[in-house]
This record gives sequence, structure tokens and C-alpha cells, in this order.
Amino acid sequence: MKQFQVKNITSGVSFTVNEGESVLTAALRQGVMLPYSCKNGTCGSCKGKLKSGEVHYPFHPPIALSREEIAEGGALLCQAEPMEDLVIRAREIEAVRDIQVRKMPARVIEKTLMTADVMRIRIKLPEAQRLQFLAGQYLEILVPDGKRRAFSIASAPQSEDIIELHIRHVDGGGFTGWVFDELKERDILRLEAPLGTFFVRNDEPQRPMIMMGGGTGFAPLKSMIEDLLAHNDNRPLHLFWGAKNLSELYMHETVLQWAEQNDHIQYTAALSEPRSADEDSGFTGLVHEAVLQQYPELSDFDIYMSGPPAMIDAGRAAFLENGAVKQRIFFDSFEFGLDVPIRVLARPH
Ligand code: FES
Repeated sequence: MKQFQVKNITSGVSFTVNEGESVLTAALRQGVMLPYSCKNGTCGSCKGKLKSGEVHYPFHPPIALSREEIAEGGALLCQAEPMEDLVIRAREIEAVRDIQVRKMPARVIEKTLMTADVMRIRIKLPEAQRLQFLAGQYLEILVPDGKRRAFSIASAPQSEDIIELHIRHVDGGGFTGWVFDELKERDILRLEAPLGTFFVRNDEPQRPMIMMGGGTGFAPLKSMIEDLLAHNDNRPLHLFWGAKNLSELYMHETVLQWAEQNDHIQYTAALSEPRSADEDSGFTGLVHEAVLQQYPELSDFDIYMSGPPAMIDAGRAAFLENGAVKQRIFFDSFEFGLDVPIRVLARPH
């Protein structure tokens, strides 16, 4: 099999990419932790620079790269396959390097409908097994036909062997239809975790944080906030949570309580289509507009965003225009539409 050498000049690390393998897949396989989130070319987390060598994109076009970025040597490393040896410039993420990614079974122990289209499920790992992860990371549910479905972990690492997921129903069936209609308590799922490089940065000096979530994009932010609270981390934190109306903010009361009980936490609900009963419950408009209304100057903040790509893109562009530091914007972008069918792997009697 043909192999290519890739050298990252940011760290001096070199690794080998097999023919037909993406740069990101090869890097992760060899313990080189490049940043990533969606792994399907839409979020832009894995952007790097090509200093020499050529790549191609055989599966998906590099959606998250603009023409200008390509012209300036940008590459989307989750999709890019080398055509020759490469020299790249890419950030590496130390914090997740030593956390082992594992496959494991987990049993569904609770299924709760939070709104008409959001289900909370809690799953339990086998006896004596713990999942080590950083708050904000995600897991994948493995499907027998080889497909996978990614979900952010909504519980904090302190919750030990119980993992919480928030699953939004996607029209058209597929995996989420199966979760809503067929998945039962006591069913067994097979997981791979932890994945992704979305987590709270603790570099000094620590900066106040703005967290912005859209819909079930709240899940990893919930994990992060619970983890910060468990560590008595009192950095100022303002959570903005956006949805069409208040009933879609499925843990609104919990977040109000966090803000009430902790002076360093503020909360703003942003409602794009509020109902009359929602009056006075928050900002009316898009969630990134709510952030800008309160923080017209963003250069002092670390910004964490989680939600659909359109929300992330709008937020990122607007925040950069308002002084946000590019390297201090962290995001987890997920596409609700990427849905695959699944079957029950095992159902105990
Ligand atoms: Fe590569 Fe999302 S675009 S990880």
C-alpha cells in the first residue's frame, strides 16, 4: 500500500498516511491530536494550512473551506487525502492526547421526553467501567452496518458510569426516529468514546467565558458548566441558549437555578419566534444577536459555541467582526440531518 509522510511544522511531529486515508484519520490513529468535530467536512474545526504537497477530496467537497482559504493554502484535514508527502501547519490539542478512545456497550436506563422533539436518554456503562472524557466531548453510537451517529455527552465526567444524551428528533425517521419510537429501557447500545476536541481551555490567564448554544447544542455546554461547578471554577460565565420559543429550552429551569445560585453565572434565553406567553423570558431574535447586544466588544472573552452549522457560522463571523480573538473561539457544529438507520444490537429478556 502506498504511504505518504506528513510533517506538522507547528509541533515538528511527523506521521504516516495510508493511501485512501484522510490526514485527520491517520493523525488520530497515531496519537497526533489534531482538532476536529464533525469529521464530515461541514464544521471547519479541522482546518489547517498546506505548506507543501498536494491533497484531494475524494468523498465530500471541502464545504467548510472558502475559495479564498483554498487559494491561501487552507486544507480541511478530515477530508483531505495526500497525493504526495505533505508539510502542514495545524494546531495540536495536548489535553486529549492521553485519553484513550474505547469501544464499549452501554445499557439504556432512562428515556424521558423533554419536549415534543427532544428526548433525554441516560445510559449506563458495564459494572466497574468508567468513561474518562473532557466535558464537551462527544460519543458515537455504532451501528451494525458500519455507520455511526454522533451525540455530545450532556452529563459531566463526575457522573461516573451514567452518561446522558439529548437527542433531537429529525423528520424522516432514521436513527432518531428509532430512538423515539423503538428504543426501550434496558436495550444495549455500542459506543465509541470520547471524541472531539471541544472542551473548556484552562490556559493562563483565564478569561471570562461566553457560551452560546442552539437547541440540543446545549448538551455539551451543560456538561462543561456542571464540570466547572464541580471544580468550584468561578470564572465569569454567560450562557446564551437559543430556540424558537421558550418551550424548546428543555432545561430552562435548571439553567435559571444555576444562575440564581452562582454569582459568576449569567443566563440569557434567546427566542427567535417567541409566543405571547414567552414575553419577558429573554431576548427576542437570534442567539448570536443576543450575545452582541450585551457584549459589543469581545476581545477579552473565550467563546464556546455548540449548535447547527448556520448558527456557528453566523456567530463566528459576527464575533470576529466585534473583536473576538480567532484562537479563542471554540465550537462544536453538528448537522441534524446526518441521520443513519440503526438496529437494536441486543435486547435482554
Ligand atoms: Fe473537519 Fe468538521 S470539517 S472536523
